[in-house]
Amino acid sequence: MRVNPADDDRYMSLALRLAEKGRGTTSPNPMAGAVVVRRGRIVGRGFHLRPGLPHAEILALLEAGPLSEGADLYITLEPCCHTKKRTPPCVPAVLDSNLRRVIVATTDPNPLVDGKGVAALRRAGLPVTLGVKEREAQALNRTYSHWVTARRPYVILKAGMTLDGQIATSTGRSRWITGMPSRRDAHRLRTQVDAVLVGVGTVLKDDPSLIARTGPRLLAPADRQALRVVVDSTLRVPPGAHVLSEQETAKTLVATTTAASVSRRRALEQLGIEILILPSAEKQVSLPALLRALGHRGITSVLVEGGGEINASLLRGKLIDHVCLYVAPMLLGGADAMGLIGGRGPVRLASASGLRGMKIRSLGEDFLVEGDL
Ligand SMILES: NC(=O)c1ccc[n+]([C@@H]2O[C@H](COP(=O)([O-])OP(=O)(O)OC[C@H]3O[C@@H](n4cnc5c(N)ncnc54)[C@H](OP(=O)(O)O)[C@@H]3O)[C@@H](O)[C@H]2O)c1
Repeated sequence: MRVNPADDDRYMSLALRLAEKGRGTTSPNPMAGAVVVRRGRIVGRGFHLRPGLPHAEILALLEAGPLSEGADLYITLEPCCHTKKRTPPCVPAVLDSNLRRVIVATTDPNPLVDGKGVAALRRAGLPVTLGVKEREAQALNRTYSHWVTARRPYVILKAGMTLDGQIATSTGRSRWITGMPSRRDAHRLRTQVDAVLVGVGTVLKDDPSLIARTGPRLLAPADRQALRVVVDSTLRVPPGAHVLSEQETAKTLVATTTAASVSRRRALEQLGIEILILPSAEKQVSLPALLRALGHRGITSVLVEGGGEINASLLRGKLIDHVCLYVAPMLLGGADAMGLIGGRGPVRLASASGLRGMKIRSLGEDFLVEGDL
């Protein structure tokens, strides 16, 4: 069988671009794209759009129809072989298509799959090339991979800050540190995650709605907007807060402890707000318990837009996976201003958390600085 690695790269790149079309809508499923190529001609394409809809390879094979016979199938993620989901497994459909070869970018880290899809194809005698554009395919689904392996959502810390690291003035004012291009980009981030989280301190000071006002979710129903999560140990969130309004557009969950009064709980429940009572740690909501609970209900990613206190607890608990900092060209100063991470700092510099894979992009006059923790 003649195989050209440059062609493999090219067709897999196309499959990856198709997969990208599902960003923000496939969760808790991974993004996936597929291309069917017969004698150098693309005869089928597909990508996974949302849970319950067909997987990428099924759509690509459907489009190819009888032309899939003797063709090569490029898929960004190995086909599934388990039945614990709404759609039937893809391995039998792939085997029934009389393909010549299957090219897979990466295996699925879900323990129910984890190489079993590739193994099943090979066992049936279908040649499989594994690992074409593997790094790119793994990066595409890092949120999903984190969720299925760590069993908690991928946590992204986002903030708008001054060059000297302040996120609010001494009186708690933060609107607006960054310019419009940064704020628009931050709304784009909201459209790509399953939940947006703040501490009650931010609700009391800024009264944000946390709704994505831009991008594909603008007109989307409630199940397509990120879940809004408020961390509030004693239910201080005022019933008139913006974060509790527009429930028909985006749902809100308030995470609290048994220290909250029953009457406050009832008042919020009457507004249609879900109250989640969690264990407490030092009289505050246990954030590991909250993230576990969110992961359990299929929340694969959380964008933290909170203030210094919530950021500090997450950093202390080693619960941050990625940071997105919008840095504005201004110095604020003041020991009493609010820094990005509050609380007491470590004594030793060696205790600082180093970032990896740093990237910088300019947005108007600001810079977006990103990295992994
Ligand atoms: N520039 C930016 O990007 C940006 C973004 C957001 C906020 N801000 C600014 O940040 C300021 C608010 O900061 P903040 O620190 O007061 O707000 P926060 O971090 O959003 O909320 C802190 C509150 O969350 C509650 N909480 C519950 N469990 C917690 C836990 N495990 N760890 C930490 N907190 C927990 C606590 O209140 P209970 O004990 O009552 O539960 C705590 O006081 C405002 O001035 C706002 O403008 C700036």
